[in-house]
This record gives sequence, structure tokens and C-alpha cells, in this order.
Amino acid sequence: MAWVCYYRCMNGEKLVITGGNPLRGEVRVGGAKNSALKLMAAGLLTPEECVIHNVPQITDVEIMAEVLRHLGVEVAWEEGTMRVRAGDFKGREAPYHLVRRMRASIVVLGPLVARFGEAKVAIPGGCNIGSRKIDMHLRGLAEMGAEISTEHGYVYARASRLRGRHIVLDFPSVGATENLMMAALGAEGTTVIENAAREPEIQDLAAFLVSMGAEIRGAGTPILEVEGGAELHGVEHTVIGDRIEAGTFAVAAAVTGGDVAITGFRPEHLALPLEKMRAVGVEVEEDEEGEAVRVRGGRKYRGVDVATLPFPGFPTDMQPQIMVLLSLAEGTSVVTENVFESRFMFVDELNRMGCDITIEGHHAIVRGGRRLSGTEVCATDLRAGAALVLAGLAAEGETQVLDIHHIDRGYQKLEEKLSKLGAEIRRVGDD
Ligand code: EPZ
Repeated sequence: MAWVCYYRCMNGEKLVITGGNPLRGEVRVGGAKNSALKLMAAGLLTPEECVIHNVPQITDVEIMAEVLRHLGVEVAWEEGTMRVRAGDFKGREAPYHLVRRMRASIVVLGPLVARFGEAKVAIPGGCNIGSRKIDMHLRGLAEMGAEISTEHGYVYARASRLRGRHIVLDFPSVGATENLMMAALGAEGTTVIENAAREPEIQDLAAFLVSMGAEIRGAGTPILEVEGGAELHGVEHTVIGDRIEAGTFAVAAAVTGGDVAITGFRPEHLALPLEKMRAVGVEVEEDEEGEAVRVRGGRKYRGVDVATLPFPGFPTDMQPQIMVLLSLAEGTSVVTENVFESRFMFVDELNRMGCDITIEGHHAIVRGGRRLSGTEVCATDLRAGAALVLAGLAAEGETQVLDIHHIDRGYQKLEEKLSKLGAEIRRVGDD
């Protein structure tokens, strides 16, 4: 089914960028959004306090905090430290008005079923990158013995007892792996999740759960083994650096011909995008400690093909950003999106800036050697918004990126970090 999205640009704050400045200096990325959200949900598994450091101050985290508070969980957040204490809270429902704002709220399902044997979570809608189904989450829970029903837009899960099972995922779904790994902690016996997702954020969640007292083997491999029944206690943990934020800054350095050191993350978590950027002609060198990279723009770039895949493949969350770099490179590149069924909506906006990208099914044909020019564009989702900012940094003249609430979901103070690197960018209120 062709997933057709219609997007209407709304009013609100915008980012105004004047392109052409090479970015120079050092930037430290924040904690990984796609780990922090799950660690907060994992706090539901114990009545003791969990202290989570390096939590990014972004909208998605605010919404997850609202979901937990709606359940009756104590959540305190000062600066980058989040304290979650899921004592004897009564809530079992994640309501639609919150879930529709942040689909990852579905990840409270597994912990609630593990701890209390029941949960009611609104079915997350589709979004501007695809249908975002949860059938693998639900099938896995049912295999473990949960009674699953869906009515009036909600998932109801009930389980008097969960039993460890050998579950095989059709696709290495990040969310399904996380929900089932946490549900398995409440099951009797061992659960094996085959074809599990291997992302660094999955490994960070597994490390968090092991620190809580869980027994988990194989995190980061396609075969995850989880022992159920352990008594889980409070934990103190620091979120890994955000590899996608790091990749976004790496492309910013490349498209502006700059020289930027990016710290606060592990380059091994971004290996393939960094390798692809080297193949394009960008100078990328990692430091010996494996905690930073230095990215220098080259004189001439050449196109390369990119296909998104689950980790360790090229991350889909870097697809819009790399598309901007490939538009500046000589030659034609083919970008294939294998993870989401509709993650090209932003291409029309890039083409309005002078890109020449044609969509054929799940391939984008990127004709390079383009000179971009600034104009008004509309962010359609988080990473698309980031890509439009990158295009604005490289474009001649002024670019206005609208609907930047999408960007604020996953990037903390993006314009401040870019300004410190020499970009001419400012946030303008809702006119
Ligand atoms: C996580 O989404 C990330 N979000 C996404 O990042 C990321 O793009 C994605 O993983 C892939 O890496 C968070 O972690 C909060 P999936 P998730 O389950 O868990 C289909 C960003 O920009 N699928 O791996 O929802 C699904 O429709 C965001 O930070 C089913 O069909 O991703 C999609 O096509 C965007 N049935 C594909 O699998 C299911 O039961 C991958 O989804 C589950 C998923």
C-alpha cells in the first residue's frame, strides 16, 4: 500500500538561516533520545528510584515524563538528570492524547505487563514516515501468554502469568525488541528473541536492565536471551551519546566545507555513515579513545549509493541528512529506504531549494552537483527538519524552516549549537 501523507505547514516558530558559513569548532552531542525514552519506561519495572544522567532536554522526553506522571509515577527532572520512582502507582493506561504526540510511548506496554500483568495503551497512529505498526509487539506478548485485545483505538493487555518463549521477529524492530525484552523480565523462565534489533540504544537499555538485576544475554546480537523473575532494584545510569545528532553535525561540517570536532558519543555507533562520508570525499578521523570524531569538508565530493538497514546497516534516521550531502556531490546517487515505507516526503522541500531528487518506489535518485538556494521550507518530521536546516547552511541566501516543533522533539538547542560553530541561524517566534 502506498502510504500517502498530506502535510499542511502550520504556523509557529521557525529557524532563519543565512547559508555559506563554513562551520568550525567543537560540539558535544547530548544523550541519545532513542535510548533515554526507553530507560525512563524501564523505570516502571521497579518500585525503587532510577536516576538517569545525560538525558536530553527535548520535547519527546517531556512527553514521556507526562506519560509516566499520568500513570502516577514520580518523575523529577533537573538539567540532564531524570529521577523516576515507580512506587505503588495505580495507573495502567497511556492515553491517546499523549501517545499520538509521541509514538514511543508504546514502550510502557512491556514494563506494565511485566510488573502488573495489565496495561491499556493507545494504539500509536501512523506518521509522516510510515504506518508505524505494532503487530510484532502484540504477537510477542500473546506468545508469552498475554491476552491482547484492541478496541476503541486502545490495546488492552492482561496476563495472570507470562511464560518465557522462543519468539522470532519478522523484522528486527527496535520497539518490539525493547517491549518484549522488558515484558520477558516478568515471565517465568527464559525468553529468546530471535532476529532482535541490535542498535546501540538496545544495548544501552539491556545494560540498564542488567544493572537493575536482570539477566540478559546477547544484547547487540540477533539472539537475545532474557531470564524472567528477577527482583529488579533501582539503578543509576548515564545515557549513551546520540549517534544521530552526531551524524547530523558531521553532515553539517561536510556540506559547509568546515572543520568540526564532535564529542560525547562513540563513533563505532555511527560506523557506516562515517564510512559513507569518507567514500564521498569528506575527511573523517576518529580519536584514539573512540569518543570523538573530527570532520573536515573536502574540496570535491562524489556521489555514492546508500541503502538504509537495521543496525549495523546505514541508519534510516540519517537518510534525510545524507541526501543533502549527496545533492552537492558530483554524479548520481541512489538512496534506498528499506526501513520505513514513506520517508521521502521531505524531498519535495529539498527540491524547492535546488536539489534534483526523483522518487521511484523506495529509491531516491539523487542527481548531484547542485547549487542550493534558500527559500521557505516546511519540516515534515524530525530528521527531515534537520536535513532542511543542513540544506539551509549550504544554500546561497536565506532559508526559513517552518514547523520546527518537529526538530525540537529530538534536538536540544540545535540552533545554539550551530551558532557556536559559526552558522548564521536564529529562532524566530510565531509571527
Ligand atoms: C525506532 O522506531 C526509533 N524511534 C526511530 O527513530 C528509528 O527510525 C527506528 O527505531 C528504526 O531504527 C525510537 O526509538 C523512539 P521499528 P521504532 O519498530 O521502534 C515496522 C527518530 O527519528 N514495524 O524498528 O518505531 C515499522 O512500521 C525515530 O528518532 C512493523 O511493521 O522502529 C517500520 O516500518 C524515527 N510492526 C519498521 O518496522 C511492528 O510491530 C521499523 O520499525 C513494529 C515495527
